[in-house]
Amino acid sequence: MADGVSSVFRRGPGPHPVAVRGEGVWIEDDVGRRYLDAAGGAVAVGVGHGDAEVVAAITAQAGRLAYVHGTAFTTTAAEAYASALARLLPIEDPRVYPVSGGSEAMESALKVARSFHVARGETDRTVFLARRRSYHGSTIAALDLSDRPNLRRPYEPWLGATERIPAVSEFRCENPDHPSGCAAWHVAALERVIDQVGAGRVAALVAEPIGGAASGAAMPPAGYWDGVAATCRRHGILLIADEVMSGFGRTGRWFACDHFGVRPDVLVAGKGASSGYWPLGLCAVSGAVHDAVAPAGFVHGFTWSHHPVGAAAGLAVLTAITERGLVEAAERQGRVLSARLGATLAGHPLVGDIRGIGLLMAIELVADRATMAPFPHRAGVAAAVTAAAKRLGLLIYPSTGCADGTDGDLVLLGPPLSISTAEIGILVDRLAAALDEVSSNAALTGRYHDAQPEKGLR
Ligand SMILES: Cc1ncc(COP(=O)(O)O)c(C=O)c1O
Repeated sequence: MADGVSSVFRRGPGPHPVAVRGEGVWIEDDVGRRYLDAAGGAVAVGVGHGDAEVVAAITAQAGRLAYVHGTAFTTTAAEAYASALARLLPIEDPRVYPVSGGSEAMESALKVARSFHVARGETDRTVFLARRRSYHGSTIAALDLSDRPNLRRPYEPWLGATERIPAVSEFRCENPDHPSGCAAWHVAALERVIDQVGAGRVAALVAEPIGGAASGAAMPPAGYWDGVAATCRRHGILLIADEVMSGFGRTGRWFACDHFGVRPDVLVAGKGASSGYWPLGLCAVSGAVHDAVAPAGFVHGFTWSHHPVGAAAGLAVLTAITERGLVEAAERQGRVLSARLGATLAGHPLVGDIRGIGLLMAIELVADRATMAPFPHRAGVAAAVTAAAKRLGLLIYPSTGCADGTDGDLVLLGPPLSISTAEIGILVDRLAAALDEVSSNAALTGRYHDAQPEKGLR
């Protein structure tokens, strides 16, 4: 099945081994090979694979009541989950709209923001602001927020409504005076864009409080979120926090917003919400947004929204994270991982930067450590490191485009929050071996090491 003819329309080129079981940070295939899942799938698995408590909660709910339509019923599962989650969300008086994934949640967020303004008579507010080099999902509106040329290219005729503000990147900051005054520089850039578009035309600003795959776990400069949130409020612009990757303990707080005390109007989540046990996404809105939109009815909906089994999975994951102290574990083990990566990889010829917080870490790969010149996307360096790691029994998450939307390779680490110190040791050893293998492949990386970007790297 792994290499033969398949009826599955697979995601990307193989080889695709056949995964048969998972336990903790480990995945096993049908020939008994074990992989350390340092990516948590797509930075989704927080509580670990093979969790008997989550499986039991899903099974019990499916046996009791698998499905009702959200327009006809609410369920004890949905009510219990939303009220448990409401106590943790960094939002005033939150209301939770559960869907089936991050992109659906983002679509819901964009529509609820638009509906909020329409309900208040501000019908000119149609424009969304998002950062350069960002990623917010693959459905059309979420893709339009995403500044990733390679992902947008086939669909460009349907895109183009988003206005851009600068990317956040301490490694590749656009502020000419970096690192001095970066927050103020970002706020001034935001003010300029709002001014150009017209404050009365902007519906919302969408951004990750701490970057995910697109930026490689990039942290904003100190004061960024205070300034950006205050600017949005002053102009009546809603703030939509994309916590699809950073939420549910990943960064060592329940939500990345908690690091900065920022209170968005809308928060979008997915991935770690269900830890991979159910396709679950969440669009959470403030009481003020809900109360403006709900009376006239939110013109939106999916067959699988408000799913009782998804809610049971979400609640079981929330309970596991809480009872096992996994948010604290992410902070503690994140420090161990960061220290080990620094000690082992800081001088590696491919490694330009090691960054991140909690158990969301990125290693940016560069062609030239002195100039920070990125590898060109077409060289496929992040993919080669990921393939080498997989051969060594390590799963990592490649990303490209962090330098300019197209070029800029990195590998992301987002293991289950339950990872042990011994497992972190195995992770770092295997990653170092994968980087060595690619680095010694002169045909792949060597020819870029002495080149400058201006001399035709792209
Ligand atoms: C920051 C961010 N937003 C949105 C999404 C889209 O989520 P999904 O793939 O569940 O649709 C992702 C997925 O990687 C993401 O990382």
